[in-house]
Amino acid sequence: MKASRRAEPPPRLDPTRLPRHVAIIMDGNGRWARRRGLPRTEGHRAGREAVRRTLEACRDLSIEYLTLYAFSTENWRRPADEVEELLLLLHEFVAAEADDLERNGIRLHISGDLDHLPEAIAAKLREVMARTCGNTRLVLNCALNYGGRAELLQAVRRLAEDAAAGRVAPAAIDDATFARYLYTDGLPDPDLLIRTGGEQRISNFLLWQIAYTELYFSDVYWPDFDATHLAAAVEAFQGRRRRFGGVDVG
Ligand code: IPE
Ligand code: IPE
Ligand code: MG
Repeated sequence: MKASRRAEPPPRLDPTRLPRHVAIIMDGNGRWARRRGLPRTEGHRAGREAVRRTLEACRDLSIEYLTLYAFSTENWRRPADEVEELLLLLHEFVAAEADDLERNGIRLHISGDLDHLPEAIAAKLREVMARTCGNTRLVLNCALNYGGRAELLQAVRRLAEDAAAGRVAPAAIDDATFARYLYTDGLPDPDLLIRTGGEQRISNFLLWQIAYTELYFSDVYWPDFDATHLAAAVEAFQGRRRRFGGVDVG
């Protein structure tokens, strides 16, 4: 008998062992578009719908933190018209979703260098961050103009300034002190990192924060990603044994 093409039912998940923080490298928009004979920007447009679906799916699963890698410090190397389109889509997304974020208890947080983005986008992002800062149901952390090395370097620079000014004693700098200088200050480290699009690399994402994160790679192109794929990743996560360098208990 021919195998059914019907989608698998969502796997059963253990509600007591959900990841608190899921981070996603949303990759494969360009290849999704190329496969359809469309310009890359159409892939980014379709990717925006996947962001909406994923945000909703995370809310339904009661995940507390969702970090999305939207634009890296290295993505400036792309053709100017693609960069412009990506930033325009981001601006449109945040403007269009602001009311929904506010209504649905979602707090927008940005990780990345806002000061070197076009002023109109930076202003809109700051406005929506301020509007949603009291929300507690889900934190949407958007990694935008973000690079892991750039993040570490700005942290080291500010920490060195504080040490030179006598505000921090070098001997007292520990993990927690350092983490306060990162863009992710106040957010727990990701429990699960998903990369779509088939590549198995980190591409300068959250270098400090993923020390003990479980990694999950999917061949699905980001515009095709939906609640079923998220559930499959969470199911895989629930099958892992996290040891943090120690030994299994129980
Ligand atoms: C991810 O898709 C979107 C961003 C990096 C902003 P890509 O544009 O990298 O798509 P591929 O990897 O070329 O298919
Ligand atoms: C990672 O994807 C960056 C984002 C998803 C924003 P890239 O497509 O830029 O990564 P590489 O170039 O394949 O490593
Ligand atoms: Mg890519």
